Amino acid sequence: GVSSLVRVTPTQLKYNNGRKGRPAWSSYQGKVYNITPYLPFHPGGEGELRRAAGKDGGKLFMEVHPWVNWENMLGECLVGIMVAESEVKI
Ligand code: HEM
Repeated sequence: GVSSLVRVTPTQLKYNNGRKGRPAWSSYQGKVYNITPYLPFHPGGEGELRRAAGKDGGKLFMEVHPWVNWENMLGECLVGIMVAESEVKI
């Protein structure tokens, strides 16, 4: 549910870019997904999907296949919502 969602800052999104053993996260319309388990299954190839790792993938996604419903496909992979850097500092 919504209560289990993590608040993710731009710095944290950038850090989780799938390199050096870190998970690959990607944001779409303010929601953050762990795309790691989906990488081997992406019909367009793992390399293409990795281009969206650690960043907002919305623009690339819409350029290639706006008809694909990522909310349905990646629902299980939802980890959090994007917040501004300042929203997490105490
Ligand atoms: C194809 C899912 C992100 C590049 C596909 C297809 C699906 C899919 C279902 C098959 C579409 C069809 O045949 O109509 C996803 C999901 C994404 C994602 C769920 C987000 C997590 C991306 C990104 C890129 C990309 C960021 C590019 C940087 C491609 C390409 C194909 C493709 C090039 C076409 C492969 C071909 O027909 O030969 N993707 N995709 N995808 N995807 Fe993605």
